[in-house]
Amino acid sequence: MMKTMVESQFIPDPYTHYPETGSVSWQSPSNIALVKYWGKYGEQLPENTSVSFTLSHCRTITSLQFEQKETDEFDFIVLLDGKPKDEFKPKIQQFFERVESYLPFLRKYKFTIETSNSFPHSSGIASSASGMSALACCLMEMEQSMLSSQISEMDFNRKASFLARLGSGSASRSVEGPLVVWGEHDGIQGSSNLFGVSYPFDVHENFRNYQDTILLVDKGEKVVSSTAGHNLMHGHPYAANRFKEANDNISKIKEVLASGDMSRFIEIVESEALQLHAMMMTSLPYFILMKPNTLEIIQRIWKYRKDENSIICFTLDAGANVHVLYPESEKEQVQAFIASELAEYCKNGEYIHDRVGLGASAISD
Ligand code: DP6
Repeated sequence: MMKTMVESQFIPDPYTHYPETGSVSWQSPSNIALVKYWGKYGEQLPENTSVSFTLSHCRTITSLQFEQKETDEFDFIVLLDGKPKDEFKPKIQQFFERVESYLPFLRKYKFTIETSNSFPHSSGIASSASGMSALACCLMEMEQSMLSSQISEMDFNRKASFLARLGSGSASRSVEGPLVVWGEHDGIQGSSNLFGVSYPFDVHENFRNYQDTILLVDKGEKVVSSTAGHNLMHGHPYAANRFKEANDNISKIKEVLASGDMSRFIEIVESEALQLHAMMMTSLPYFILMKPNTLEIIQRIWKYRKDENSIICFTLDAGANVHVLYPESEKEQVQAFIASELAEYCKNGEYIHDRVGLGASAISD
C-alpha cells in the first residue's frame, strides 16, 4: 500500500546501532469508548471519530526480550502467564507485517513476548487494546535504544499509538489518558485517523476520577469477533448514517465535557452503546452479543437512576458485559447498589471496579 506523507513520518532515521540482546517491559491499560469505533477501511482506518476514557486497573503487562539473529523471517514466541500461547501468534504475525516498514529492525531479532493481564482470564474484557498498546510501547522503547537522538514524549506516544492502531484500532486509544480521541474531526484540532491523541480541551470537574465498574455478564468466546463485526459495516444499510451520527456525537460530547451537563452526557453515552449493538443486530448476517442479564442490568440501572436521582449510566463494548459509569461523588452508594442488586446478574457474581487512568508506562527492572 502507498504511504502518505503523514505515514512516512513514522519511518525512523537510520539506526546507529543494534543491541545484541536486551529486554523492555511496559504496562498498558484498557479503555472504554464513550463514542464508539465500529467500521473501518483501508489499513485500520476508522470510519468515524471515537473518544474513550482510559482505564486504570484493567491492564496488560508485557515484556519483550530480544536477541539478534541471522535468519530473515519474523521469529517470536508468545507466553501468557508464563505458558506458550500459540493462539496469539497469527495476530502478532499480522501486526509485525503491518508495522515492519516503520520498525525496520523486526526481522533482525528473535523475540520472546511475555504477557499477563491484571483482569481475570477469559473475563471477556477485550485485551487487544491493552495488549497491542503494551507491545507497541515495548517496540518503541527498543527502537529508541537504536537511535542516536532522543525522541520527544509526544513523538513517542504518537508513534506508539500509530503502531498500536495497526494491531487493533481501539489500542490506539490506550497509550495516553484520561480521555483520548482517535479519528479526524473538524472540531478537534490535531485529531487523526492514524493515531489517538489526548483530548485537547479542558474537561469539567464532574468527570475527574470518573468510575467504571465492569460487570462480567458473560465470559465465553464472542460469537462474532470485533474484526468480523467491523467488516459487516461494509454495505450495511445504516452505515453512512451511523458514521455521521458518531461524528455528530463527538461534537455534542465536546460541549458536554466542557459544561458538565450530566443528563446530556448520559444520553450520548447510552445512545452510543445501543447504536453499536443496533448495528450488530442490523448487519447481514445479524447477531446479538447482549444476553438477557445485560438487559436486566440496564433496566435496573435506569430504575436506580430515577429512584435515587443519580447520574449513573451504562455503556457496552462488543460483548455482553456492562460498564457502569458514575462520578466519584456517588462511589459509595453506587458500589453498594452494584453489590446488592447487580452482582447477581454477573457470571459467578464477578465484577471489576475501575476508574479513569493516565495511560501506558514503562516498568523498570
Ligand atoms: C466495540 O479495536 O477490537 O470496542 O481494530 O478490528 O482490532 P480491531 O477492532 P477493535 O474494535 C473495538 C470496537 C468497540 C468500540 C470501541 O472501542 O470504540
